[in-house]
Amino acid sequence: MNATDQGTDAERRSRAATELERLRPALALDAERCLGRAEAVGFLARLDRWFADVHVPVEALYGSEVVEGLVRGALCAAAERPVALREVDRRREIDPGWFQHQSMIGYVAYTDRFAGTLDGVAGRLDHLAELGVTYLHLMPLLAPRAGENDGGYAVADYRAVDPRLGTMDDLEHLAARLRERGMSLCVDMVVNHTAREHRWARGWLAGEPEFDGFYLSFPDRTLPDAHEATIVDVFPHEAPGSFTRVPGKGWVWTTFFDYQWDLDWTNPRVFAAMLGEILWLANRGVEIFRLDAVPFMGKRLGTTCMNQPEVHDIVQALHALVKLAAPATVFKAEAIVAPDDLVGYLGAHERYRPECELAYHNQLMVLLWSGIATKDARLAVQSLRRLRPIPAETSWATYVRCHDDIGWAVSDEDARAAGYDQFAHRDFLNAFFSGEFPLSFARGARFGENPETGDARMSGTTAALCGITDARDRDDPNALEAAVRRFVLLHAVTFAWGGVPLVYMGDELAQGNDTSYVDDPALAADNRWMHRPYFDEAAAAHRHDPGTVEGRVFGWMHALASTRASLPALHAAGESAVLPVDSPHVLAWRRRHPRSGNFVGMVNFAERAVSIDPRTLDGLGVLETVLSSDGPPLVHQGRLVLPGLGFVWLAQP
Ligand code: GLC
Ligand code: GLC
Repeated sequence: MNATDQGTDAERRSRAATELERLRPALALDAERCLGRAEAVGFLARLDRWFADVHVPVEALYGSEVVEGLVRGALCAAAERPVALREVDRRREIDPGWFQHQSMIGYVAYTDRFAGTLDGVAGRLDHLAELGVTYLHLMPLLAPRAGENDGGYAVADYRAVDPRLGTMDDLEHLAARLRERGMSLCVDMVVNHTAREHRWARGWLAGEPEFDGFYLSFPDRTLPDAHEATIVDVFPHEAPGSFTRVPGKGWVWTTFFDYQWDLDWTNPRVFAAMLGEILWLANRGVEIFRLDAVPFMGKRLGTTCMNQPEVHDIVQALHALVKLAAPATVFKAEAIVAPDDLVGYLGAHERYRPECELAYHNQLMVLLWSGIATKDARLAVQSLRRLRPIPAETSWATYVRCHDDIGWAVSDEDARAAGYDQFAHRDFLNAFFSGEFPLSFARGARFGENPETGDARMSGTTAALCGITDARDRDDPNALEAAVRRFVLLHAVTFAWGGVPLVYMGDELAQGNDTSYVDDPALAADNRWMHRPYFDEAAAAHRHDPGTVEGRVFGWMHALASTRASLPALHAAGESAVLPVDSPHVLAWRRRHPRSGNFVGMVNFAERAVSIDPRTLDGLGVLETVLSSDGPPLVHQGRLVLPGLGFVWLAQP
């Protein structure tokens, strides 16, 4: 059945209601039998709340006959849920906006590079607590294939931990330790593909009926060629093309590397299998699932095979089923896509449909770097103003950089409105951040260069890209001062834009690029490893010494984090609005939350002081400086002065 056969939204919902009425009595009995009376009441309340969000998309994807089995799977997972996690469920159901709280701060790290093993991570919780971390994303840690594995994004077994890092018991134990410290564990869920060594892939290759239709393959090049005409190649240099020849199967769909086989999500058994893995991991204590490469799950001829409508059906259904069994859980979308496509992953469609609670704000990230390079805020102002609002139940994950390259996702419309040519601007950003541009302070490197289009993305740590590395190497105190100010400016936005700020490990210590990856043949071809350094113990030992760069940077991170936690206006349920200012160098935004007054953040991308008309703040009440780079802003000749590369946070007391 395709979407157009399914009638109006009201008709779909009405079919869902009828089906719930039919299934409810038997489910109620079973729930009481396997959960006990009190818990069954909760389960049924969740069923009433979420059933339509299961039924409507599952019917569209696979037909309604699949629904009951999936709901029963969720009931079984609910029955297996450990008591300690049911307690978390209870707290989260009372406070469903828990992940939006202004005290939320995320930290992202590769387990081995941060602390050796999962046990080692438990030994670093004081470091995290010092930064106010409440959310720990440990980069892919499930058992990967041996050898090359794309940083763990080629999973061979979702129910086992990478033996280099520990065991599943260690993971459960760490999750419990984190909970005691008020930190939630976030783990990657690679949903688009598995490693070709995964049991499902081996079964499929061997022709086992159970795995029939799990992956996508074609006997000859006809369809692969037709698809490749419109697909954007993700790794044009490192892994050209999106199909890989596999003896016995023809051409297998491999969006990323040739050892990462794309699952066929049109198959309901793929959906059920992946749901089973998610629920199982939720019951081990994972609270946040980062859905990896989620836009790629739906394929349609003649399209980019990204952001297709069925992707949203899949995510909505997975989300609702997980809510039935493990309501403490939230989803975070890794959808590094154009702004107009991005908000859909948070459920912002014509009508709200719950999908992910969190999504990476890659727009903000890209625009900040563009601002740093151009010393100009106009592109940011233009693009952020045009971005569609997101549902109040959801939040952005805001970040300066992550483990991946920076892709210059600026829309043509925004670029033109801000006076740029989209392609010329990307060329400039690549030249600037790779340090090729005259007078550039950046020390990044091009990634994913496409020889045909000349397009590229950017690798490098924050310290390398904002000039700290260059200034240190040249031993130039003025350049270092400017670079640290850039670093702080970037975080002054991500910590106060609204959402959950994510700090990538090592940035809090201004760690530079790590080029040791070139000596490891499994990593050498992928320069994203330069910005995935090992935790620098020596730098950490200086973190309280304001006479060192790491001490200054860590001190600022600490100040930003603790001030943020004290500002109710930064609760993520409120919206951010860009304020009009009369300087092209300044990005100013306002936040409001029903329980608090106004908050205003302002940053100046120029390296010299600029001024703005103070009437920008009219109507926002009496605002006090709660944190700033240079003390309360001065007024000069009736204008508000912002020092070069300065920031200020203002709030109503
Ligand atoms: C995501 C990850 C990236 C990985 C890709 C394929 O984009 O962030 O590191 O290469 O998925 O799994
Ligand atoms: C995927 C991700 C994107 C990343 C790329 C490789 O496309 O969505 O973020 O740039 O993989 O790193």
